[in-house]
Amino acid sequence: MHANIVVLPGDGIGPEVTAAAVDVLRAVASRYGHDFHFREHLIGGAAIDATGSALPAETLAAARSADAILLGAVGGPKWSDPSTRVRPEQGLLAIRKALGLFANLRPVKPHAATLGASPIKPHLLQGVDLIVVRELTGGIYFGDKTRGDGDASDLCRYSVAEIERVVRHAAALARARSGRLTSVDKANVLETSRLWRDVTTRIVGEEFPDVQLEHQLVDSMAMHLLARPRSFDVIVTENMFGDILTDEAAMLAGSLGLLPSASLGEGRGGIFEPIHGSAPDIAGKGIANPYAAILSAAMLLRHALELEGEAQCVELAVSQALDAGVLTADLTSDRARAVGTRAVTEAVLEQLELPC
Ligand code: NAI
Ligand code: MG
Repeated sequence: MHANIVVLPGDGIGPEVTAAAVDVLRAVASRYGHDFHFREHLIGGAAIDATGSALPAETLAAARSADAILLGAVGGPKWSDPSTRVRPEQGLLAIRKALGLFANLRPVKPHAATLGASPIKPHLLQGVDLIVVRELTGGIYFGDKTRGDGDASDLCRYSVAEIERVVRHAAALARARSGRLTSVDKANVLETSRLWRDVTTRIVGEEFPDVQLEHQLVDSMAMHLLARPRSFDVIVTENMFGDILTDEAAMLAGSLGLLPSASLGEGRGGIFEPIHGSAPDIAGKGIANPYAAILSAAMLLRHALELEGEAQCVELAVSQALDAGVLTADLTSDRARAVGTRAVTEAVLEQLELPC
């Protein structure tokens, strides 16, 4: 298969971890006879420095014509001054919105080798394998905002169509997994949540009768997610609730450096990126954990290129490297045993040469 992959390394550790993910994708291409073509473009702080814009027109044009986009992370102290007019994060919001990427998938599957890195008791984490589908381009983050003398407001609005499309996406995912879907809202208080619940019930009932749907209120869901994480499979929710619940869910895996994500729209393609930021505190030291970026490359293979076998091979290679104890400093308290970005990448590449 031929595929055009746009690479947006961004800032801080972004370039370090995307380089690892690109190496892995190149290895997959050569092993399976695919022709992947990589082109790097600017985004975030690096783009501001070079062009004054966090999302240059040239980057957006390349992203629009790409089969998939691999992104690192953006931001850093250099561009964080409150007086700064253009912020790196604007580039990220703008590209998601421009490409219509309304479904943000965040799988959480703690690995046996890293259970100790989580603050949650290991026996609660065994067997956890869940995926949050967060609505990404609507709700309160995108509603009208006002700032008066003595007050401020943010409008939360959802249309039926916005809810339908993300629920369909999540229900299809649930059908392909365990058949269980949990929808999270605040329907006891919010009108947008009552609409969310009505639409979800209708879409699942009419189009996915084989999917078992349960509704949870977001406040008690925050508790259940830590108390009984094993009982969830696919979780679908609106933008702000998803933002908060996925940071919470990240703690089940133990480190931000292990969690990939995919942001998808109606068509093929999408943006694939680790959920962590640019980690300025460790940038340039060669110690960043590239597993999340490599697992994001696996999601790219699965969701953008529909290469499920290849995606599973990359995930297996990561799992075997973790089993072999190839851990970065964020994953082990044993400093003497911790390895750097390159050693992890090489361990994964080595596993990829074995039968899968
Ligand atoms: P962060 O995720 O960059 O770092 C939080 C902590 O986790 C730091 O101690 C960092 O060293 C560690 N960490 C993160 N990823 C790691 C990895 N792969 N390997 C090892 N350790 C890792 O979040 P923070 O510090 O709040 O933000 C730093 C910058 O990143 C800010 O400018 C922020 O706006 C930006 N950011 C960008 C995001 C993106 O591009 N999607 C997401 C979150 C933050
Ligand atoms: Mg967040």
